[in-house]
Amino acid sequence: MTVDDKNIFPVYHEILAREEKEDLLKQRASVIWFTGLSGAGKTTLAKRLEEELFSRGYLTQILDGDNIRTGINNNLGFSPEDRYENIRRISEISKLFLHCGIITINCFISPTEEIREMARSIIGEDDFIEIFINAPLNICEERDVKGLYSRARRGEIKEFTGISAPFEIPEKCNLEVRTDILSIEESVKKILELVLPKIEQE
Ligand code: ADX
Repeated sequence: MTVDDKNIFPVYHEILAREEKEDLLKQRASVIWFTGLSGAGKTTLAKRLEEELFSRGYLTQILDGDNIRTGINNNLGFSPEDRYENIRRISEISKLFLHCGIITINCFISPTEEIREMARSIIGEDDFIEIFINAPLNICEERDVKGLYSRARRGEIKEFTGISAPFEIPEKCNLEVRTDILSIEESVKKILELVLPKIEQE
């Protein structure tokens, strides 16, 4: 069900401006969006990145597929439509954090260009940092941290990304991080080099 837009009156102008909140926090808000296969290292890198940012005085919030899908998105599965709705809601949530001056670190497979484009358009080009956390499928499958790849190969999980559902290479990402080549620390260093200039207050 969608609501009748004519009867909805969003109020933005009376709310404290994002800039005032950013000034309070002494940071510039942004959405750092990690895309990549399950097992590529999104959550691991997000946690290390958050520690690094926190130690420099930045306020962040990690939004992660497995957590969001047990909470606000627990009615969604993995069909193309549900993945789209998953990312749409997360993008709207990220926008709320953005307007609160907070940096989010988002870990979602977000498997198609269409889905990532939708996220980018909801959040806004200027505030969207897309980072491709990339390890080849065979490496993710070898790691199989959650045991999901072997279950997907046995046909026990349908529409599993990389096995029976597509993952499109991100063509527009701001950075690619090869987690099969770089260590965790090297990966985080690369990400910090990109992110820090964007979140520092002038
Ligand atoms: S997305 O495609 O909609 O962006 P999301 O990042 O939220 O996916 O969730 C992915 C996580 O859900 C994976 O890390 C994995 O633990 C779990 N999962 C369960 N079923 C699937 C599936 N069919 N395809 C991909 N991931 C799945």
